Amino acid sequence: MSDQQPPVHGSAYGYRPGQTNPTLAAVGPGTPCGELLRRYWHPVALSTRVHDVPRKVRILGEDLILFRDRNGRPGLLYPRCMHRGANLFYGRVEQDGLRCCYHGWKFDAEGRCLDQPCEPGHGVHRDAVRQPWYPLEERYGLVFAYMGPPDRKPVLPRYDNLETIGSNEVLWRRFGGFGATGDESLEVVPYSWTHMNDNVMDPFHVQVLHSTFSTVQFVPQFAVMPRVEFFETDNGVCYSAVRRLDDGREVERVSSWLMPNVMSVPDVTLKAGPSAGIAWLVPVDDTHYIQAMVSRVPRTAGFRHMLYNGKTWGQMSPDEHQRIPGDFEAQASQGPVTLHSEEHLVSSDRGVMMVRRMLLKQMEVVASGGDPLGLSFDPAARPIQVRSGNFYRAAQAAG
Ligand code: FES
Ligand SMILES: [Fe+2]
Repeated sequence: MSDQQPPVHGSAYGYRPGQTNPTLAAVGPGTPCGELLRRYWHPVALSTRVHDVPRKVRILGEDLILFRDRNGRPGLLYPRCMHRGANLFYGRVEQDGLRCCYHGWKFDAEGRCLDQPCEPGHGVHRDAVRQPWYPLEERYGLVFAYMGPPDRKPVLPRYDNLETIGSNEVLWRRFGGFGATGDESLEVVPYSWTHMNDNVMDPFHVQVLHSTFSTVQFVPQFAVMPRVEFFETDNGVCYSAVRRLDDGREVERVSSWLMPNVMSVPDVTLKAGPSAGIAWLVPVDDTHYIQAMVSRVPRTAGFRHMLYNGKTWGQMSPDEHQRIPGDFEAQASQGPVTLHSEEHLVSSDRGVMMVRRMLLKQMEVVASGGDPLGLSFDPAARPIQVRSGNFYRAAQAAG
């Protein structure tokens, strides 16, 4: 028994709250998980939100400035100007870069200094300075950043379920707190990305939190306790959750977590077929994250918020939040970062344990100089296969 545990009588008297495991939760530069995360591309904004007014963004604990020059090229720069530190948030976007407001130094999207207007010859030594920068690429309507070592930069992955858009389909995108609340109330989710990352391989909470605890938050069929199997893939963890339905069929729901913070959750109305979407949990810092979501949807589909007893999350009163909790309430109440030493992981947490084990193992791979799972350095690589979906079949006879 660790000294964190209460005496056997279970009284809270004398109990000392537990601790976070920083190896699992910290995302800053130089931390084991931060260095692992920095080996992958992460979405930092919707493409439509990157334009000629510089924006502050915070990602993996780093404050940066995001802009798009007038040639259409996005840039992500360290915020303090390499001259004397004025913040490039106040800079002016020009054709080929961002000009600092203070003395007019201009930097391109890769940090090269293009102009020093107060210097003779506009700065004959301007090539000697470079504004720290990160590479960006755009795909699926998102701007992705690579914040790791330049010589280990992988190709920006493609996902097979987002590569072909049907003529009657469009790509639906969200960037912010939608995945936690089901509406647009939050731009940033005020707790660790690990809460939602643990949740991805936790099919059992769907039966309780979302289906039988208060109201039906998705569909009544989720009230059936599923038969669940977890399995490792070559780049993540999947679960298969099988439910027997009243009509003699059963539905197998396959959901995927992909290294290190990507998920493909199948349609939550149990619509048949492969999952049409991908989501990324982007750590803002140790205690905040943003969820980027992209999904193929029918062109005619209206936009839906999630409803709790007929109300959106943002419309609910404090009393309703208490009586009808969803993912946000459950996860925010775990604290800014959970206290890992207080957890009692059991058989239904097997998926959570598999995800954490894979992350910890890959942190060791990175620390020892290797490349972690799920990266490709081949621009011609095939898209990543997404196995998720809701698959129906005749129910098997009870054995
Ligand atoms: S501080 Fe930026 S140009 Fe002087
Ligand atoms: Fe959930």
